[in-house]
Amino acid sequence: MSTPHINAEKGDFAKTVLMPGDPLRAKYIAENFLTDVRQVNEVRAMFGYTGKYKDKPVSVMASGMGMPSMGIYSYELYHFFDVDNIIRIGTAGAVSDRLALRDVVIAMSCATNSNFAAQYRLPGTFAPTADYGLIKLAEEKLKAIGKNVHIGTVFCSDTFYDDADSLKQWQKLGVLAIEMESVALYLNAARAGKKALCICTVSDCPLRNEECTAQERQTTFNDMIRTALECAADIESSFD
Ligand code: HPA
Repeated sequence: MSTPHINAEKGDFAKTVLMPGDPLRAKYIAENFLTDVRQVNEVRAMFGYTGKYKDKPVSVMASGMGMPSMGIYSYELYHFFDVDNIIRIGTAGAVSDRLALRDVVIAMSCATNSNFAAQYRLPGTFAPTADYGLIKLAEEKLKAIGKNVHIGTVFCSDTFYDDADSLKQWQKLGVLAIEMESVALYLNAARAGKKALCICTVSDCPLRNEECTAQERQTTFNDMIRTALECAADIESSFD
């Protein structure tokens, strides 16, 4: 059952899919962390793979950048490929002064300037929220490897080059970090009755003009990949 954006069959994806933004990151994860790997999508070079981690089935597929792209892929994975859990693994910019480069943020909830939820014609506003079980699992795994973890609200923006003054308004509300995909993922999960989590490493601090080196990005990204894979393996083990 292929869709306009994913050329795969129904059983081609595992129940849990890790989603980095960048297709080359998806390829990197498949090649370096999974065994028994096969490629399940290549449409628009939005690479997707299914393999095994610690003998448990897991998939990894890129989301692309921004909510429209994440919206398309997560919708199709939940509705057409029977995926139950999506864990976004990405980068974010620090908004709170409490965050340092390379810290990890778990997006418990999201503020946004996006109109993604308008499609539901709600009589009010909805608070996009991560699955609590996945938050607890990821927190446990991150702490076990000694990561500095922050759990709270992120600002999910339609724009990468945000005005500094507007970021400071979000800072006053305790927002931890800025990224660009969580809201589409959490809303699609909520509407589909499925589970989602967004874990990000802090790659830059837009308000302080700091950013990680390429090497630092790679190392911290590896920690996050392992964390998400450990979560996926634990979820599968719970069905044994
Ligand atoms: N803004 C938006 N998204 C991001 C950023 C940022 O500064 N850093 C990583 N993802």
